[in-house]
Amino acid sequence: MINTPHINQTAEIAETILLPGDPLRAKFIAESFFENAVQFNKVRGALGYTGTVGGKKISVLGTGMGVPSMGIYSHELINVFGVKNLIRIGSCGAIQENIKVYDIIFGMSSSTTSNFGSQFCLPGVYSPAASWELLDKAKKSADKLGIKNVHIGNILCDDAFYSDDSTSVEKWKKMGVLGIEMESAALYMNAARYKANALCILTVSDHLLTNEATTAEERETSFTNMINIALSLA
Ligand code: HPA
Repeated sequence: MINTPHINQTAEIAETILLPGDPLRAKFIAESFFENAVQFNKVRGALGYTGTVGGKKISVLGTGMGVPSMGIYSHELINVFGVKNLIRIGSCGAIQENIKVYDIIFGMSSSTTSNFGSQFCLPGVYSPAASWELLDKAKKSADKLGIKNVHIGNILCDDAFYSDDSTSVEKWKKMGVLGIEMESAALYMNAARYKANALCILTVSDHLLTNEATTAEERETSFTNMINIALSLA
């Protein structure tokens, strides 16, 4: 078992891991969807579990919020624990009218306001992107499961949840960005740099242009659909 500053490993970590932001969601997923779940981490409340789904090993870890936190966990999972497939399952705010609350978004690419990429000292603007293999597999799973409200495209990984710039959403919207979250760029850049596969699957938790209302049933269905797509990637 290995120790890092952020993961005090108490059980195996699978090659494929689901990464919700909320550690309690990680616990819920392990308890509700995994067979034989064992906890592998609790340092800083970043709860992590490993189990099986349909006989295949899979892990889940709550990463916390934002680029620095995702940067730390994805770096250690890939470089220290040998994780190969990292699937963020989270929420986002939609910024296109054709997207509804509780639709699902696959982040094909990730624009960002974060400076995380500056460490790679590139001579231009890098485009963080999902693994084509995971994205293709996720789309095929969604089709097979009959999940129709899926959108695929560019998302924004924003450093500020409470931005002082009230004009920014409109600017990202006009460039076709689908929704806003806060972790994808760090995940995609670390996966690219350290040769792993990554994908962000998001449910739309709020709409930044409309005040659309939904039902508890829609919320539950949407979450279950997202988890079922993610579990099919094990
Ligand atoms: N901004 C950033 N992250 C989010 C949002 C948002 O509006 N909604 C859910 N996650």
